[in-house]
Amino acid sequence: MSIIDPAIAVQRLPRHVAIVMDGNGRWAEARHRPRSFGHHEGVKAVRASVEACIRRHIPTLTLFAFSSENWKRPEEEVGTLMELFMKAMDREVDELVANGVSLRFIGERAAFAAPIRERMDRCEERAPASTRLQLNIAANYGGRWDIVQAARGVARAVAAGELDAARIDESVFDAYTCLADLPPLDLFIRTGGETRVSNFLLWQLAYAELWFSDVLWPDFDAGTLDAALADYARRERRFGGRGASGGAGA
Ligand code: IPE
Ligand code: IPE
Ligand code: MG
Repeated sequence: MSIIDPAIAVQRLPRHVAIVMDGNGRWAEARHRPRSFGHHEGVKAVRASVEACIRRHIPTLTLFAFSSENWKRPEEEVGTLMELFMKAMDREVDELVANGVSLRFIGERAAFAAPIRERMDRCEERAPASTRLQLNIAANYGGRWDIVQAARGVARAVAAGELDAARIDESVFDAYTCLADLPPLDLFIRTGGETRVSNFLLWQLAYAELWFSDVLWPDFDAGTLDAALADYARRERRFGGRGASGGAGA
């Protein structure tokens, strides 16, 4: 069953969806289970969201898996998450590639242990013959980090004489950010009931549509995505202009 009207779906669908996958801990606590159980169940919702994007012909999905601030959590929880990343990469990559998913990791990789970094490299090398979905996993990612690493790239190019500082504008700067080669971010989704950005894609959020849900991440499924897509399809994006219904006048 779908709440999406197939007639409007194609033109009104976002080309790039980003999701803050929040609420794993509370989902587990509500069931009197350890938080790690919530993280494990969250992997199933990742699978569901990837499949739903492929079915809906959404070409780009960016998932917030671990923020640059999540290292603040107790060592035990960080350890659980690291183990889960490794297992997920080992178990899922074959099927993802078979289904036409290209993987990219965004974030500061140096902080991860070698076995994780190696797996990330290997996943990225496994490009499918034809890509149906570009899946970006944000790990040790922060929106401010992305802006700073872009600034570093710009500064390096200027220092090397490859770029004239007077030519730096928004589009030149954008080219140095993590997702520059992909469609602009259209729809930002956050589950788990918090209405904040938590240092996700700051640069890319400028004109994204925001959609917040109380659904806890392990409960996220194709129906939740469809609700977000239906809401998105109803919105008029004006980008500071007057939009289709702006009309003539003074
Ligand atoms: C999101 O769920 C997963 C990560 C941040 C890695 P949380 O672990 O933040 O769950 P809540 O917000 O505490 O319920
Ligand atoms: C954001 O969730 C990060 C991820 C989902 C990976 P958090 O649970 O870390 O965010 P805060 O602490 O509520 O802002
Ligand atoms: Mg949280």
